Amino acid sequence: MSHTPEFIQVRTEGRVGIVTIHRPKQLNALNDQLIDELVATLQAFDADDNIGCTIVTGNEKAFAAGADIGAMASYTFADVYKTEYITRNWDAIRGIRKPIIAAVSGFALGGGCELAMLCDFIIAADNAKFGQPEIKLGIIPGAGGTQRLPRAVGKAKAMDMVLTGRMMNAEEAERAGLVSRVVPLDKLMDEALGAALTICNYSLPSVMAAKETVNRAFEGGLSDGVMFERRLFHALFATADQKEGMAAFVEKRAPNFQHL
Ligand code: CAA
Repeated sequence: MSHTPEFIQVRTEGRVGIVTIHRPKQLNALNDQLIDELVATLQAFDADDNIGCTIVTGNEKAFAAGADIGAMASYTFADVYKTEYITRNWDAIRGIRKPIIAAVSGFALGGGCELAMLCDFIIAADNAKFGQPEIKLGIIPGAGGTQRLPRAVGKAKAMDMVLTGRMMNAEEAERAGLVSRVVPLDKLMDEALGAALTICNYSLPSVMAAKETVNRAFEGGLSDGVMFERRLFHALFATADQKEGMAAFVEKRAPNFQHL
């Protein structure tokens, strides 16, 4: 990015990129500039050979309380349709090929919940609250919530969340399959960083292939997904890291992956 971002903070820890959403007075409400900054950073990390995995997080009170309602309030149909509001920049996150972990504490509502679901998995603090409350505003979720939530938690709970606008706490979210782990708030970043560092130590081509293949399970049918998996599984036998990973196991030593 050419200028310093205003609404996100960016740092790295080893091969892990960390993006912290930082608009605390508005509970990290997501406006266009914030999403542009986030996407530009995720794309820069994706292109950076020194980064293997990214964490997106917020603050204790909010991961993100949704799209910026004040900014949206006066939009007309013509405004949002012509500018591809939300699709334009949000959909770019789907194109990121390296893993993204959402480390969620506090509110993840509306677009905040959708942003977390756009990441590859969610680690939640025990104070996290998830919801799709758009119905209360006379709209519906617009960044994939009606599609990703049912795939994560099933139709019954997704309908309940989307139609009533109620929130789900961390414990319910883990039980329902929306989040992969729940940890005490003060352990959230340690846990997310531990997971990210673990991923970074694996061979990057296999990590990218794993992400791409699991995502197929969300978007296509079973037999196409299994065939896609089989082809990428076969293709990984062309990497140097497959030779190294298996040789290391046979020789009872740690692998030294070169991401090649
Ligand atoms: N947009 C803009 N500002 C927001 C916001 C949002 N989504 N969420 C919170 N804020 C602002 C509040 O307006 C308030 O600002 P002021 O101090 O200037 O008044 C500040 O953040 C703190 O919020 P509250 O005083 O409301 O804090 P609270 O602790 O009492 O309540 C809350 C917290 C329950 C999260 C409440 O703020 C809330 O309901 N927020 C809106 C949640 C929402 O509806 N999200 C969906 C948005 S639509 C969407 O996301 C569409 C899509 O699919 C992409």
